Amino acid sequence: MTSSTGPFIAAIDQGTTSSRCIVFDRDGRIVAVDQKEHEQIFPKPGWVEHDATEIWTNVQEVVAGAIAKAEITAADVKAVGITNQRETTVLWDKNTGLPVHNALVWQDTRTDALCKELGRNVGQDRFRRETGLPLASYFAGPKARWLLDNVEGLRERAEAGDILFGTMDSWVIWNLTGGAEGGVHVTDVTNASRTMLMNLHTLEWDPKIAESMEVPTDILPEIKSSAEVYGHVKDGVLAGVPVASALGDQQAALFGQTCFAEGEAKSTYGTGTFMLMNTGDKVINSYSGLLTTVGYKIGDQKPVYALEGSIAVTGSLVQWMRDQMGMIKTAAEIETLALSVEDNGGAYFVPAFSGLFAPYWRSDARGVIAGLTRYVTKAHIARAVLEATAWQTREITDAMTKDSGVELAALKVDGGMTSNNLLMQTLSDFVDAPVVRPMVAETTCLGAAYAAGLAVGFWPDTDALRANWRRAAEWTPRMPAEQRDREYKNWLKAVERSMGWID
Ligand code: G3P
Repeated sequence: MTSSTGPFIAAIDQGTTSSRCIVFDRDGRIVAVDQKEHEQIFPKPGWVEHDATEIWTNVQEVVAGAIAKAEITAADVKAVGITNQRETTVLWDKNTGLPVHNALVWQDTRTDALCKELGRNVGQDRFRRETGLPLASYFAGPKARWLLDNVEGLRERAEAGDILFGTMDSWVIWNLTGGAEGGVHVTDVTNASRTMLMNLHTLEWDPKIAESMEVPTDILPEIKSSAEVYGHVKDGVLAGVPVASALGDQQAALFGQTCFAEGEAKSTYGTGTFMLMNTGDKVINSYSGLLTTVGYKIGDQKPVYALEGSIAVTGSLVQWMRDQMGMIKTAAEIETLALSVEDNGGAYFVPAFSGLFAPYWRSDARGVIAGLTRYVTKAHIARAVLEATAWQTREITDAMTKDSGVELAALKVDGGMTSNNLLMQTLSDFVDAPVVRPMVAETTCLGAAYAAGLAVGFWPDTDALRANWRRAAEWTPRMPAEQRDREYKNWLKAVERSMGWID
């Protein structure tokens, strides 16, 4: 039995590589965790898919697993919160509950040509102005359009009212609350802000944008706040528990890191890396390649906006080294291998597997390793892999400083990769600022739990949440400035070489 006394909040994190459920107590401490990976499907170069049915099965299993490990029942759980990989798009039949195609994952680049065409016909600026996003294959709207255009008969079925669209939050909530038998079809403002279909100023679907994207608004979910009761779990170990929050995983991490004040920022190191800065009630247009997005909205309070620097490939590069290259057996081994050499041996690895995201937004980029000589070993490559994450972060912090005018005082980090001490030290060296990790590094789930807990009165307000934040570790810069500048120049040269690979 758990040493914490209830009641509890459960959070489901439907992520890019796995689904997990964590049970938290009132101090924000982890009581139990269960997690399951799902298959990554790569049908063609640049295409990435998930089986949404497999994901829903896994979600049910990890919820049951976490509740069993905590040795509690639904009666002990006051609410369940949802957080999810963003942009990944699934369309399903509302009568059968079956997906019409595999989900198109946020990393998938198949809508590249479509985005270029939209740019020519409708204009880049139009989308950025209304949605805060540059036209890129990353976002959900173009993925929905691709499915409607390419799955035979789908557009007709959508027009007949049989098809529902969702990012993974909508898919999980619809299934949790009853699926084809009365499931609620909703999303929250943070997830909706990644579709390219929501107007950032009104927080409603933008009919003109949807029309130019050729996505019928009838298939879209209702947009709700990030913290309110959407419905109740219909079946399973949490039957009857209110489903009370939804936030895209990066916004959830912002919330879990308690970045509630304007100017506070966090960076999450998962499959990709995402740095978000709270900009309060201001919609700040970026001139440096960042995204403008919704940070969170609690019930009927005003929305809080954020600037985001998105990096597509960081943790997934380590996974690629393990699974596709076989250079390491476990993800943790990358640190041991990298530590066996003093430096990168002259090699730089730009992992533009899904094109380059912030600050470049170049879908025509592809991965390169530059600077190779016969001296380079796999240990140097391991070092270059970790440095790629740190340099990409540096490019984002530079852009944040330009857009906000605020110098980075410290970087709050979280996510799986933060257990890699060499990476954390390299990060501090490259961004030239202290890097700080909190006691609970599972801030994504924590943020979803916090939002759900606020919605049902489990926690009174955000001050109560701030009191739970505790520093666990800190790294400070050690690298001489000249060395940092020289290495940064080399990195930027390698980035240049990754661009223009695809016509
Ligand atoms: O925008 C994509 C992001 O939400 C994915 O996050 O943690 O699954 O890499 P993660």
